[in-house]
Amino acid sequence: MSSDLILPVSIGSVTLENNIICAPMAGITNFPNRSILEMYKPGLMFTEMVSINALSFKGKKTVGMLEHLEKHKVPVGIQVFGSDEEYFNKAVLFIEEKFNPAIIDINMACPAKRVIRSNNGASMMRDEDKSAKIVECLVKKLKTPLTAKLRIGFDSDSLNIKSMAKKLEAAGIAAITVHGRTAKQMYSGQSDPQLIFECAEELNVPVFYSGDLFSMEYCQEILSQGKVAGLMLARGLLGSPWLIEEVIHGKHVTMSQKEIGDILLKQFDLFIQYLGEYKGFTEMKKHLGWYSKGLTSGKEFRRVVNYETSIEEQKKNIIDFFYHNKLKTPVKPERK
Ligand SMILES: Cc1cc2nc3c(=O)[nH]c(=O)nc-3n(C[C@H](O)[C@H](O)[C@H](O)COP(=O)(O)O)c2cc1C
Repeated sequence: MSSDLILPVSIGSVTLENNIICAPMAGITNFPNRSILEMYKPGLMFTEMVSINALSFKGKKTVGMLEHLEKHKVPVGIQVFGSDEEYFNKAVLFIEEKFNPAIIDINMACPAKRVIRSNNGASMMRDEDKSAKIVECLVKKLKTPLTAKLRIGFDSDSLNIKSMAKKLEAAGIAAITVHGRTAKQMYSGQSDPQLIFECAEELNVPVFYSGDLFSMEYCQEILSQGKVAGLMLARGLLGSPWLIEEVIHGKHVTMSQKEIGDILLKQFDLFIQYLGEYKGFTEMKKHLGWYSKGLTSGKEFRRVVNYETSIEEQKKNIIDFFYHNKLKTPVKPERK
């Protein structure tokens, strides 16, 4: 492990081997993807966010998103979103019993319009007392540590992360993660460390840092301030999951194109096996885009794979490009 920046960290009753965790990312951190992230040994990984409303009714699709948790060797947290106290109760007790996650996290950070409109996600930061009450209620019932993911505020006129976090701490939250942007900002501008550091100084529970963690150097810079308990990596992992290893060991990882191809073939097989042929094939295209970013002829490769319609041919495209530096001529599929 790299120096004194990478340390075990306790979240309530759970101790993580290291303080580098993988963020929940909707549409991304499903089982196959987590299986790839896991190879680089983060301290904790998260599922995609799941709706408490759907969980309360044991919705098949949503429950399905949480399957295979027990297959991981790295601890996994489940992230839930919602706003209704009763549904929160039902949902978290159900997932604790059925999936035994290491952590349950409440999403108080999502800025998506459809989420905000129903007072979920970052909207929870607009009613500190109600959110704290929900946490207090749940903590009393759960054996699993409860955490929350927040933004620095809803908008620039309400940068309430410190008062919100203190209320959640008083209510029994075991740790928080803060993304250094307001919900209004979505992903624009830069994530601001200042309020996260101040928050970490004022809280006793661990505070994890989220926002613009794209390089080992920046991760080290944030950790070396000695304020936050750890980091939550997100977009920096898209196409470069080995960032986890770089941060943990404090050393750049040099990946050959063949090694990247090996990861992609493994990921593709997992996608097909667990998401099914149609979804697995479609989802994989996003990842092929991320992994080929910045590579010579990456743009041409993306055109080839985006036009591809056959699983076997797509595997061949990956092998040709990543193993042999070869590309076929892209053929635009005909509209049916
Ligand atoms: C595609 C995508 C999906 C995301 N889904 C979630 C989510 O389900 N729950 C959550 O708390 N944050 C989610 N996030 C936010 C990330 O966890 C993270 O806080 C944010 O991207 C900032 O970190 P970064 O700048 O290092 O990517 C998502 C981000 C992206 C890019």
